[in-house]
Amino acid sequence: MNADELLKPFTLKTLQLKSRVVMAPMTRNRSPKNIPGAEVANYYKRRAENHVALIITEGAVVDAAGHAYPDAPNFFGEKALKGWERIVEAVHGAGGKIFPQLWHAGSTRQRSTAPFRNLRLTVLRQLPIRLLKTVKILSKCLWMISTA
Ligand SMILES: Cc1cc2nc3c(=O)[nH]c(=O)nc-3n(C[C@H](O)[C@H](O)[C@H](O)COP(=O)(O)O)c2cc1C
Repeated sequence: MNADELLKPFTLKTLQLKSRVVMAPMTRNRSPKNIPGAEVANYYKRRAENHVALIITEGAVVDAAGHAYPDAPNFFGEKALKGWERIVEAVHGAGGKIFPQLWHAGSTRQRSTAPFRNLRLTVLRQLPIRLLKTVKILSKCLWMISTA
């Protein structure tokens, strides 16, 4: 395929893109206190100014308990959403489209975050094995009692 094809506009139903270049989500850890600011807006704007038609944002965390990396942006709360609003405006101003990647780190989330601040994740991961061992020991005891 001719590389020029990538720079031709593309339409999918109501989505109109100025090129076929789509940017994959890449975590940057550049949002101090989890608020995406001017640095983030300029970063995405520069991509939109340079042929990227559609940007899938870095993972944007949907809940305080969902963080796994420092300085990853929130996608909740007034300040963070205001930050995203500015980013969207900057990207649209440069002729690009932008879509958030929503992120919750699940079992790899940071420790000491709400809602279970003191919970050790390793304990959680070991839970099924521990349960199995307990059941085994209990059944052995029962067997010994019944055959005594
Ligand atoms: C620095 C860096 C940060 C990344 N952050 C994310 C992310 O936030 N979310 C995600 O889904 N993938 C993330 N990725 C994975 C890239 O999106 C992925 O590498 C890209 O889609 C290309 O796919 P490939 O690595 O299989 O070729 C990251 C990759 C790199 C190199």
